[in-house]
Amino acid sequence: MIKGTVEKAINNQINAELYSGYLYLSMSAYFEGQNLPGAAHWMALQAKEEYEHAMKFYNFVFERGGKVTLAAIDAPQAEWKSPLDVFENAYKHEVKVTGLIHDLVAISRSEKDVATENFLMWYVDEQVEEEADADAIVQKLKRIKESPNGLYMLDRELAGRE
Ligand SMILES: [Fe+2]
Ligand SMILES: [Fe+2]
Repeated sequence: MIKGTVEKAINNQINAELYSGYLYLSMSAYFEGQNLPGAAHWMALQAKEEYEHAMKFYNFVFERGGKVTLAAIDAPQAEWKSPLDVFENAYKHEVKVTGLIHDLVAISRSEKDVATENFLMWYVDEQVEEEADADAIVQKLKRIKESPNGLYMLDRELAGRE
């Protein structure tokens, strides 16, 4: 049986993961409008992954005999200054989410909920990857600067994400 404090914290995280998906879908829509189909594809897949993160928490709550209560998802930002601005914001967002996951680990520890703490280690590892992936694209965009050719090449590369 899951404790109320942990259950509440995971419910909040389900909302945070769904918001992440919503934010990335908004970024995907922005790239569609910018004629960058590769970046749009990359962000649409990212949005799908965030939904999967939410569902993993969702199923875990039920497995532990808890209750899921879904809250409203905030509207995401819709406009950005440039592709670099988008990916810098995606990176910053992932850093924020890493902090949320670490807070969840701290709550699980203080409640002596070893099962949740163990379950969260998957997310700890995932966040390392998420930050690195977003940052790698930020670095490429910084190198490209204003080159339309470079942006075209990067967009083709992002189109290959599976
Ligand atoms: Fe996530
Ligand atoms: Fe993420």
